[in-house]
Order: sequence, then C-alpha cells, then structure tokens
Amino acid sequence: MSQPIHRPALQLDRRADFPILAQPIRGQRLVYLDNGATTQKPVAVIQAEKDFYEKYNANIHRGVHWLSQYATDLYDGARVVTQQFLNAARVEEIVFTSGTTDSINLVAYTWGLDNLQAGDEILLTSLEHHSNIVPWQLIAKKTGAVIKVVPVFDNGELDLEAYQQLLSSKTKLVGLVHVSNALGTINPIAEMIQQAHAVGAKVLVDGAQAVAHKTVDVQALDCDFYVFSGHKIYGPTGTGVLYAKYAILDAMSPWRGGGDMIHTVSFEGSTFAPVPQRFEAGTPNIAGVIVLAEALRYVQAIGLDKIAQHEDDLLSYATAQLSAMKGIKLVGTAAHKAGVLSFLVDEIHPHDLGTILDMDGVAIRAGHHCAMPLMTRFGIPGTARASFALYNSYEDVDALVASLKKAQKLFGVSDE
Ligand code: ALA
Repeated sequence: MSQPIHRPALQLDRRADFPILAQPIRGQRLVYLDNGATTQKPVAVIQAEKDFYEKYNANIHRGVHWLSQYATDLYDGARVVTQQFLNAARVEEIVFTSGTTDSINLVAYTWGLDNLQAGDEILLTSLEHHSNIVPWQLIAKKTGAVIKVVPVFDNGELDLEAYQQLLSSKTKLVGLVHVSNALGTINPIAEMIQQAHAVGAKVLVDGAQAVAHKTVDVQALDCDFYVFSGHKIYGPTGTGVLYAKYAILDAMSPWRGGGDMIHTVSFEGSTFAPVPQRFEAGTPNIAGVIVLAEALRYVQAIGLDKIAQHEDDLLSYATAQLSAMKGIKLVGTAAHKAGVLSFLVDEIHPHDLGTILDMDGVAIRAGHHCAMPLMTRFGIPGTARASFALYNSYEDVDALVASLKKAQKLFGVSDE
C-alpha cells in the first residue's frame, strides 16, 4: 500500500483576500495555478487603484495644486517602499519601468551600448526567459559583443563549473535569472555574482519569478542590476522596477527623451535630470506605481518567509502527488526550487492538457513559457506548468491531480 503523502499545516489561508477567486469558472471553483504568468490581486490593491482615480488623480512633479502635490508624494513614497522592499542603499537606485522586459531593455540600450565593444562577452544562462536573451542579442548585433551561454543539467540546475570556465576578463555582463519561470530552479546567485565580479563583469539579475516568493536583499547579493515586474507580485500590469547601484546608474546615458527627464532644454541641446528621473521620461504609470507599493506592503505584512514556506509545502505536496502518478514526467527537479511544477503527461500535448484542465476550472500554463532555448535543450516543444502563489491550497493541488487523471482517462492512457 502506498504511503499517505505528508501534508504539514499550511502557513497561510488568504484566498478570501482575492475577490476573483470567488468567481466560478465554467461553473466550477476556480483553481488558479498560473501565477508564473501573472498573480491575482488582493482587495487592498484593487481598492488602492480605485482610491487613486476617485481621490488623488493628477499629474506628478509638475503641479502647484494640492492634488498634484499629493499624487507626487504618493508616487515618491512608492519609491521608498520599493527601496525598503529590496533593501537598496539609496532611494535613487530605484527606477520605475513598465515591467521586467522594459527594465532589461533600459539596461541593454544604455549601459550596454555605452560599455560593450566588439569581442566583449555577454554571459547568459540556458534558463533565461526571452526577455533576458533578445535585448542582449539586439545589443550584441549593434556592438559586436558575443553571447555565451551557461549550460544546464537534466535536472534543471546550472552547470556551475562550466559557468566558472566561461567567465573571463572578456565577460562584461552576466544576465542571470534568479528563479526559472519555466522550471522553478533557484539559482545560487550570490555565489555566481561574486564569481562574475572577480573577473570584472557586471551582473543583471532577472527577479521576475523570485520577488513574490523569497526575500531579496540587493545589498547582500551585491548585484549591479535587479529587475522585476509588478504584476507577478500581486500588483498591476504595466509596472516594473529596475534597481541599479547608484554609481552605475548615475553614469548611464539617458534612453527615452521627453518631459520630466530633463534639467534644461533648448534647440541647441538639453541637459538631463539626475537619476532616477533621467530614466522616467513622460508621464509615468502614476496609479500603477502607487498601487505596486500597496502590493509590496501587502506582501511584507504577510512576510516573505511565511509565503516561501507555504509555497514550498504546496510544491512538495504537488511534486509527491504527480510523481506517484503513472505517465507523468516532471521537467526540472533541481534541489532548490520555488513554486513551479513543470511536467508532461504521457503523449498528451501540453496545450490539449491545458484546455482539458480548464473545463474543470483549473488554470495552468502550457507551452514554451517564453524560454524556447531551454525547451530546445530538453528536446520538447513545451510543458504544462502549475505555479503557486500565497493563496493556493492543498485543495487546489488535489483538484489539479483529479483533473489530470480525468485527462488521462479521456486520452485512454489511464491505468485506473
Ligand atoms: N513570463 C511569464 C510566464 O512565465 C509570462 O508565464
């Protein structure tokens, strides 16, 4: 007889904070397991957005009237909240962007164009999302820099010996994902950053899949750049953060020109605002940034350590459940993982699987997860992926398992 699967009491029970989760989907209880793609929003975040437009809407940094000054205070306050969230040394090190992709493009088109030359090397890993590959390819083409790639083992862990061998005085930038969105691998970034610095390279960490799941301290990590998106941490879409060490950011050329990023403008030429304003041209996503701060406050009030433990318990339970099923192959079994379970079921195409699960109200992502080189490395077109958030429960995992068994029956691959 098989052993019952261990289920420690979960740390959190926060489903009621998220109104969308009360909405039946196709007449069923919504089991939302596509948090890697985007997270749902708690009442506090939805209310903050409503409050802004009902009570505080005005443009910032421009007005002498009360509303403008109040909106400016909220916007500038959001930067302090973000600084504290990442434990950045200075508030000026935080630039608001439209998301991770925008943050990486900003670094590529400013720091990258200013600092990379023909023959320089950009070292990426096999685990990178397209957003940490394609901008560097575009910059490599413009500068003549060369892209090198750290290989990954079959279990989804990076080959750290190969990493050390690839690092050299030619390496100018390492682009490194903190947590793989496709496989969930947590990379040992502190050690990797130290090794990159030893050869004089700068390090950009893609934290899109990490910040909602573990505490990030940019000073302890000593990374040069750290980027993330608001919508993956219970905040609004179209918001993101670029953290950069002050000295590096201050030396970077402007990128997008326009209002609010200048000091003086004449037809003979312009001078530019200090950082971070230099990188926030035009009217920014004022409401989005203010609401993002509310999301960060929400997460901090719960505590990232509790969230991490909750999601680890869910991941262990789901991993044990799926491992016990015939016909399931887990893709990515690294020793250290955060909240992501990628898998294949018999010969069922992940897209078909996703569609069948949806009939039961179970939302997962199916496909290449914007990590095509990684899928190619594993010789597969894609995977089915369940990804967890602080509001998920064992009940959600049980619903996933029941729906997978139904799919296997439907495809005639069930042994039950
Ligand atoms: N990068 C997001 C994901 O992993 C969209 O699903």
